Amino acid sequence: MFVSRRRFIAGATGFAGASLIPWPGPARAAAPVEASLVLAPARAALAGAGHPQTAVWAFNGETPGPVLRFRQGDRARIAVENRLAEETTIHWHGIRVPNAMDGVPHLTQPPIPPGGRFVYEFDLPDAGTYWYHPHANSAEQIGRGLAGALIVAETAPPAVDRDLVWVLADWRLDRQAQIVGDFHDFRDMAHAGRLGNTVTVNGRVPERVAVRAGERLRLRLVNAASARIFGLDFAGHAPWIVALDGQPVDPHRPADGQIVLGPGERVDLALDCAGAPGASFAVTDRFYPRTAYKLLDLAYSDASPLRAALPPPLRLADNPWRRPDPAKAARHRVTIEGGMMGGLRLARLDGRSLGPRELMRHGKAWAINGEVAGSGHPEPMLTLARGESAILELVNDTAWPHPMHIHGMFLDVLSREGAPVARREGRDTLLLLARAKADVALRADEPGDWMFHCHILDHQDGGLMGIIRVV
Ligand code: C2O
Ligand code: CU
Repeated sequence: MFVSRRRFIAGATGFAGASLIPWPGPARAAAPVEASLVLAPARAALAGAGHPQTAVWAFNGETPGPVLRFRQGDRARIAVENRLAEETTIHWHGIRVPNAMDGVPHLTQPPIPPGGRFVYEFDLPDAGTYWYHPHANSAEQIGRGLAGALIVAETAPPAVDRDLVWVLADWRLDRQAQIVGDFHDFRDMAHAGRLGNTVTVNGRVPERVAVRAGERLRLRLVNAASARIFGLDFAGHAPWIVALDGQPVDPHRPADGQIVLGPGERVDLALDCAGAPGASFAVTDRFYPRTAYKLLDLAYSDASPLRAALPPPLRLADNPWRRPDPAKAARHRVTIEGGMMGGLRLARLDGRSLGPRELMRHGKAWAINGEVAGSGHPEPMLTLARGESAILELVNDTAWPHPMHIHGMFLDVLSREGAPVARREGRDTLLLLARAKADVALRADEPGDWMFHCHILDHQDGGLMGIIRVV
């Protein structure tokens, strides 16, 4: 779809030293790797054969959009054409881009009007699993199908038998398998967000995924749902978590066996297929205990095992982003408030102090440090000098989980509930469960206004968004 001829030539000679590329760095001599994305209405067989096709909004006719594949150190040039009836932008979730390429309408670029085009171009300093999606009317544009995976391969990728991507999405479908048009509902916004009734993996309600005994999969999970949190339980398997939000972690098995992903989050697993030939195992989503459901079956072929056993996976090489220095960092309290069952008393919206009823009239229910993000962009919640580190003491003072996403940098998680974390985690999206606390450090390296918001998209619309300014 987008591989240029030069790419093969470059690929054949290799990219020596890609992990040493400084960021921001000089433009590479090699030509950018090109891709193009056209956003337009399309039809998709989400619910499978025997059901009507669903009218969706798609990238290049597909939902999810094509998997964009690059190598660490590549420069990407992605031409975006908007054939929707409304304006849009594209955000490259988790990728450290220059501010002008970050795709936030009115903050980092003018929106791309219907019929318009915009070419994004940026370097890919960090390997890992990322994704792309619109950042205009996000709840609806993502909710109607506009999301896709973006993969940046390591210079020396780990040995696995197969590298798979599962883009998880959640849809609210009616009996004709059509998307219910009730976006921006206040009730959804003030509760858990717009949860759907149909979960797809790579745009299909999945039944089975074929595997072979003895193989090791790298399974890249992307939560592209607008609101649904997943807690995947791989019966009969013990997957290793090898990366979170694209950033390598010490390979480990999750404490309670569940692979939890809030909206926006990615988890890379090393999944060893230890079952017997011909066996079948359910993958169950148990995040919301009363509505656990089987996502799909891992169906083993009858082929004899590829190998007897596998050693634990190796740690992936760290990406070259500069770690914050917590010893030199000022601490900033960041309190999230609002939503049903608790809720906002007084909060400021566009410079005025409003009570809950008035906020509701404006379609707002959430605040960060008493500030509700309004129609325009709010004043920065934090201004940092380039090179400065800061610690955010995140406090979720609500009855609801919030996957908090930061643009343009990573959060180095220091502690949760006051206890230091067991292993280093760099995240661009951090799921804070109801009433949870976490201390995270960040380092401001790239100038610009960067969003910090909840990735439950109705919560973002409902005011749960702030800006971190780097000068
Ligand atoms: Cu994935 Cu501000 O978004
Ligand atoms: Cu939220």
